Amino acid sequence: MIWENKIATTLQWTKEISNREQKEAVAAKIAERVKDGDVIGVGSGSTSYLALLAISKKVKEQKLNVMAIPTSHEVSLACSIMGLPTSTLLNARPDWYFDGADEVDPDKNLIKGRGGAMFAEKLVMKSAPENYILVDSSKFVSFLGEKFAAPIEVDPRAINLVETELAKLGAKEVQLRMAVAKDGPVITETGNLILDVRFNKITADYEKEVKSIPGVIESGIFINYNLEILTT
Ligand code: 5RP
Repeated sequence: MIWENKIATTLQWTKEISNREQKEAVAAKIAERVKDGDVIGVGSGSTSYLALLAISKKVKEQKLNVMAIPTSHEVSLACSIMGLPTSTLLNARPDWYFDGADEVDPDKNLIKGRGGAMFAEKLVMKSAPENYILVDSSKFVSFLGEKFAAPIEVDPRAINLVETELAKLGAKEVQLRMAVAKDGPVITETGNLILDVRFNKITADYEKEVKSIPGVIESGIFINYNLEILTT
């Protein structure tokens, strides 16, 4: 029953994708890169979901042997529905990784994590020798933080400390991310909370300073990763 509900939720979610045409076009581009024997790290979010659909179609049609390393339960479920075998970083290394992003600056730095999966996404991205970020035209910004707050995953015990330290760093606004039903905070897959933080402009220094606050698990600020941006 839980599985049936999850599948229904996943299917419902796919109907609400913004900029769907552009995302499907870029999903088709990444599917072209798939070859037999690939171990592929799979990011989370709607663009990654559409890319996974395109990849699984090609895998079925061409009878390819491909393994996925998912970055969230949602992606694991999607892989299961699509018939793609999965593994973890404990048992396999990705040949390459793909993901979406919320913001991309001119130096290919990113804000990610609207889906709250940035911790696992960083782990898999850092483990992969090649990374492809799939974005529609709405994702390009002139500086990080122009449109989106930066998400920060925090151990629940550290929430007050982290908020105080963020204020010292000059955060303009700090919001605890709430569940869609607003009946409680979002709890990540590793049992943590998410703070959505606005700075005037997010720099590489902020990324380091935020990461050094005790209780911060990870942030959605991706600076200087080795990656290629794929767009329409
Ligand atoms: C999830 C992410 C997503 O990649 C990011 O939020 C972009 O999402 P979408 O592809 O739905 O626009 O970081 O944690």
